Amino acid sequence: MRMRRKKNLEQKIAACGEYLIQPRCESLNFNETGENEQISLIELFGNDAPVILEVGAGKGKFAAELAYQHPEYNILAVEKDSSVCVDAVESIKEKGVKNARVMKLRAEYLARILPLQSISRIYLNFSCPFPKNTYASHRLTAPRFLEIYRQILKPDGEIHQKTDNMRLFEFSIESFSQSGYSLKNVSLDLHNSAFEGNIMTEYETKFVSMGLPIYRLEAYLPEKR
Ligand SMILES: C[S@@+](CC[C@H](N)C(=O)[O-])C[C@H]1O[C@@H](n2cnc3c(N)ncnc32)[C@H](O)[C@@H]1O
Repeated sequence: MRMRRKKNLEQKIAACGEYLIQPRCESLNFNETGENEQISLIELFGNDAPVILEVGAGKGKFAAELAYQHPEYNILAVEKDSSVCVDAVESIKEKGVKNARVMKLRAEYLARILPLQSISRIYLNFSCPFPKNTYASHRLTAPRFLEIYRQILKPDGEIHQKTDNMRLFEFSIESFSQSGYSLKNVSLDLHNSAFEGNIMTEYETKFVSMGLPIYRLEAYLPEKR
């Protein structure tokens, strides 16, 4: 999915202030040197509350609402597109929450930026399905990403996935299983299930209004528990 670059993007990024973190690791030089740029989550949030990630957060509606409903957590919305990051910061500011930040980062670099075993939960909401098999490795549930999540998740950490895309869901179930994750609370129609406390994302709102079923699962690493 290609996003349109915002007008005056640099000024809008500057206005995001402390809400937007932009690690340097996406620059070519950084990749070549293999430099490490780990951040301190305690310094970032100013406390040691559990940290929850949303990877591929889009415009941040879900992350802002999660932060609002759960002040006991710190929420880090990870998004690769700068223009979309600006929108996500707007969502967080509008909600008036202090326990959420946006990080402009490709998921590929998460384990270089975040401390090992530091994350309590990862949300993958309506990740891009990359339908062509030649792009399967870009899917955020491809084995290479599940290995990255394994490094940053706490031993009792979990990954919660939602999607409207049955083929991505099937691919994800296979990928989680092959990578040693176990699954629980799997639903093939979230909105007609007994699940309580669902927070809608932007994409979910659109797909539900089209009458599409939403698939959901929770994954965890049994050997780390
Ligand atoms: C289909 S949108 C879903 C947005 C939001 N989670 C929702 O449910 O409304 C997927 C988002 O993931 C981002 N994305 C895709 N691949 C990514 C990656 N490797 N790292 C970080 N973000 C990524 C895209 O830029 C896009 O904003």
